[in-house]
Amino acid sequence: MKKIACIGAGYVGGTTMAVIAMKCPQYRVTVCDVNRERIGAWQTDRLPIFEPGLLDVIRTARGRNLFFTTDIDAAIVEADIIFVSVNTPTKTFGEGAGKAADLQYWEKVARDILRAAQSSKIIVEKSTLPVRTAEALENIFRSGGNHPHFEVVSNPEFLAEGTAIRDLLEADRVLIGSRETPEGLAARQEIVDIYANWIPRERILTTNVWSAELSKLAANAFLAQRISSVNSISALCERTGASVAEVARAIGMDTRIGPKFLNASVGFGGSCFRKDILNLVYICESFGLDEVARYWESVVAMNEYQEHRFVRMILQAMFNTIVGKRVALFGFAFKANTSDTRESPAIFVARRLLEEKAVVAITDPEALDNARIDLQCAPGTALFIADPYEAAAGSHAIAVMTEWDLFRSLDYGRIYRSMEKPAFVFDGRNILDHKRLQEIGFHVHPIGAAPLQASS
Ligand code: NAD
Ligand code: UGA
Repeated sequence: MKKIACIGAGYVGGTTMAVIAMKCPQYRVTVCDVNRERIGAWQTDRLPIFEPGLLDVIRTARGRNLFFTTDIDAAIVEADIIFVSVNTPTKTFGEGAGKAADLQYWEKVARDILRAAQSSKIIVEKSTLPVRTAEALENIFRSGGNHPHFEVVSNPEFLAEGTAIRDLLEADRVLIGSRETPEGLAARQEIVDIYANWIPRERILTTNVWSAELSKLAANAFLAQRISSVNSISALCERTGASVAEVARAIGMDTRIGPKFLNASVGFGGSCFRKDILNLVYICESFGLDEVARYWESVVAMNEYQEHRFVRMILQAMFNTIVGKRVALFGFAFKANTSDTRESPAIFVARRLLEEKAVVAITDPEALDNARIDLQCAPGTALFIADPYEAAAGSHAIAVMTEWDLFRSLDYGRIYRSMEKPAFVFDGRNILDHKRLQEIGFHVHPIGAAPLQASS
């Protein structure tokens, strides 16, 4: 039985290893982390993250060939292959603060491996890392004299939260980058062999290490760029009477452009788009490619503009004051089907509304615990209410922040009757039936289309 360890039992480590263990019963998979609470939660049915379908996957493999532990050294000693999936946040201090990736957790893991390992291993970069990180790791692994050989392979992860299980089971592609030396090619084959248990061979892409590392940053930058592009057009739609949904449909039907990732919104969130683009910007700057850096930086700037614009839209529509007015935020997660609120536009919007002295009533089916943490230092009154009807009651406005299906099917007639008048809806995700809301009596402000004023 081949032994796999994964260091970092977060979103990516826990989920990817669960799928590998389910699909490859001939491998023993041990997931480890410094965070005891997290490891404890992976051992129960109250998993540390909310991800549709994940519990079923975990249940098929846990205790059979999938194990969770805080004993990192033991997992290192036993493993033939070590995936490393620790966090790589944006650096908040010193050189490159606000842009560069903070690699301290990765370097610590590399040193732990160097100290604990007694035999040769394949080290797999699963975290998203700056291009040429493998070189730095090789330097660390070569330091300190006589020790086993560590071959570094890049296998970036492309799963999206909320659809992670499907993304892993039916991946568009799996990317594996290695050195093109005999040892590198052998390590590459070991990783190909794992995925070949369920991914068709033609979707397993092999490249050199640098291409694999850079492809991950570039893929996220391209995805975010599409959202910023459609969001920029949404601003123009609001001024001209065009509808961004119609424009997106028209351009998306061009097979060269395609329909995905063209939903205009209050802005993209999530733990990675912003961080990975800023990292790309930093790398370009450090190679003296300032024009390239400015190009990608504008994707983040457009996202910030969209968030600011959304708050301004609320303020202007509500007669330029929201002091003491209750605003219900429908959704706090950065997207539907996750409890994750990292970089959620809802955090920015809630903080700004609180600064304007509104009372903010937040409802979300999965993310209220995280919302409480995110807003613990915010000024004013934030309420956290599980029932959307209760959150809306007594409010002057509803702002849709997350595209949860739940919000599409509510009884908006009932909600309207419970609200202060005039009642506003600001649909930051364009998920509601705007005409119907107008008929009920709401003033409706979509993203990227003219507002619909209630007739009465
Ligand atoms: P996370 O914060 O959920 O998990 C990281 C885990 O690593 C934490 O549990 C932390 O305790 C652990 N850790 C940190 N230092 C450690 C150490 N020295 N030893 C053992 N454990 C340690 O992060 P995540 O969302 O799983 O992301 C991990 C990486 O994957 C990041 O580089 C991210 O950019 C990338 N990524 C994330 C996603 C996503 O959807 N979340 C998708 C693709 C790629
Ligand atoms: C994203 C990528 O889609 C994954 O491929 C990648 O692995 C991951 O980042 C990562 O590296 O962490 P994720 O952030 O989980 O996945 O979710 P997305 O579905 O990409 O959505 C990101 C944000 O963009 C969300 O706030 C979403 O609401 C927003 N979005 C998405 C839009 O505003 N419009 C769209 O058309 C699509």
